[in-house]
Formats: sequence, C-alpha cells, structure tokens
Amino acid sequence: MDLGLAGRTALITGASRGFGRATALALIAEGVHVALGARGVDGLALVQAEAIEAARARAKRLGSQPTRVWTQPVDVSDASAVASFVAGARDALGPLDCCLVNGGGPPALDFMAASDDAWADATRLLLASSVRLCRLVLPEMMERGWGRIVQVTSVAVRQPVPDLVLSNVVRPAVHALTRNLAVMAARRGVTVNTVAPGFHLTSAVERLIRRKLELGEAGSREEALAQWERDIPAGRLGRPEELAALIAFLMSEPAGYLTGQLIVSDGGWVRAQF
Ligand SMILES: NC(=O)c1ccc[n+]([C@@H]2O[C@H](COP(=O)([O-])OP(=O)(O)OC[C@H]3O[C@@H](n4cnc5c(N)ncnc54)[C@H](OP(=O)(O)O)[C@@H]3O)[C@@H](O)[C@H]2O)c1
Repeated sequence: MDLGLAGRTALITGASRGFGRATALALIAEGVHVALGARGVDGLALVQAEAIEAARARAKRLGSQPTRVWTQPVDVSDASAVASFVAGARDALGPLDCCLVNGGGPPALDFMAASDDAWADATRLLLASSVRLCRLVLPEMMERGWGRIVQVTSVAVRQPVPDLVLSNVVRPAVHALTRNLAVMAARRGVTVNTVAPGFHLTSAVERLIRRKLELGEAGSREEALAQWERDIPAGRLGRPEELAALIAFLMSEPAGYLTGQLIVSDGGWVRAQF
C-alpha cells in the first residue's frame, strides 16, 4: 500500500530507542523528513547515523535525494526545551505534517509507594508534555489543512498493569486529550489518535525485567519473559517495528478518516470485550 507520505515531515520525541527509533526508520523508508529528539546525546547520535544511512540507502535505490534527518536533545518534561525543539525542527525541515508524542514512562510503583512528587513527575512527563507538544504543532497543521498526531500510551489505558499505578492513572488522560483534539481538528484535515502498546521488547521492558529480578518475582531474564509470554495470547512480546508500522499507517494519507481512536497492539493481552 502506498502510504502517500513521501516528502512529508515528521517530529518524533523519544526517538533514540524503542518505538520512537522504529517509527523514525519506518517513516524514512516512506520518504519522510524527520526531526528526532531524546534527552541523551549519545543515543541521539547513534539514531542519527542510522537514520541518515537509511535515508541514503532509500535514495540510492530510488535514484532520488535522501530525506533530511535533524536531531536535537530534548526533555519532553521541560517546556522551554520542547518549544526550542519544535522551533528548530520547523527551521530545519519546514512546516510539520506529523508528530509522534512519545518519551519515557514513569517508574514502576504500587499505590502505597507513590509519593506526591512521583505523581507530579508522572503528570509532567506524560500529560503536560503531550499538551505542550500538541499546542505547538496543531495550529499550523489546522491552518495548512493536513496533519497527523499519534500519541504513544500503553495498554494501561484499557486495563491496569500490576505495579504501574502512575501509568494506569495518568495515561487515560492522555487519550482523553486525543479525543478532545480529534474532535477539534477533524474538519481541518488533522487526525489525532492514540496507540496503546502491550509488552514489547525494548529497553523499557528490560527495566521492568530488572525490577522483577530485584523484587525476586523472577529468577532470571528468561523466567521474567516467560511469565509475560504465558499471559499474552500471541505467546510472545511484540517487536517495536510492529508498533511503528501501525503508527506509520495512522500517519498515512489513507488513514485520513480514522481519528480519535485508541488502538491497542498487545498480542491479545487486554481481555476486555470493548
Ligand atoms: N516497551 C513496552 O513494552 C511498552 C509498553 C507500553 C507502554 N510503553 C511506553 O511507550 C513509551 C516508549 O517506550 P519504549 O519501549 O520505546 O521505551 P525505550 O526503549 O526506553 O525508549 C524511550 C525513548 O524515550 C526517550 N526519553 C525518555 N524520557 C524522555 C524524556 N523525558 N524526554 C524525551 N525523551 C525521553 C529515551 O531516550 P533518553 O533516555 O535519552 O531521553 C528513548 O529514546 C514509554 O512511555 C513506555 O512507557 C512501552
């Protein structure tokens, strides 16, 4: 299927690993110019080199110009850093067509262990960051009559995940933001959707494995993985490339009538009927 994305621009936060990195590579394969941000300079340099190589390989195959790759460190919890990131991306790539709202997750905690500071940090990391990013990219998309915003949340929006109380409570608000913005922007050619990944093999899951080992809930990495695999009807964890393919579709031209949706990609982990 032609996603109709060649020549478009996309801004991706949390781009150095996991879903952000996989989405950057999926979009580059479609000919999208990308602006990539994350906090760590080293991780960003690695993904930049990978992205430039992917853009060159595509250009060579098609006999075209490589798509542009721009990077800048950004902490999505920091309002002024986000504003500077978006402004820099626009200067480098031109108007922004697509935006992946993504970053790190809050720490794994149960309710009794979560302090006021932990709640405030989680709200800043997940919700305030999304509000700010959308506020910065959406008006221009609406003015130009085309745009795609995808928010990365978690299956926690549909079903609480043990020990992830911060995620379970704050992420549904991020999807509520999706629904509000989707209604506001639908007549202006802009779609806003939420993806809710289940367990995928990224560094975020490696951190959950380390926690299971520390708490004695598993004796080895293999045992921790096997516990999830038993719970997942598909019998395996997802690959970040699988979520990236879904995100690229949601950003595509053919997905223009799909807005305000929460799309769970979890190998069947959520048991709810609706
Ligand atoms: N993997 C899963 O199974 C899974 C399941 C459900 C939900 N999720 C959620 O999906 C999101 C992405 O997960 P992932 O698996 O791709 O995680 P990951 O592999 O740990 O990658 C996270 C990315 O976000 C960046 N990042 C972290 N904190 C940031 C911040 N404050 N500002 C900007 N960038 C930040 C990281 O780079 P730096 O550290 O250098 O900033 C990295 O590039 C997270 O919110 C995670 O909780 C993941």
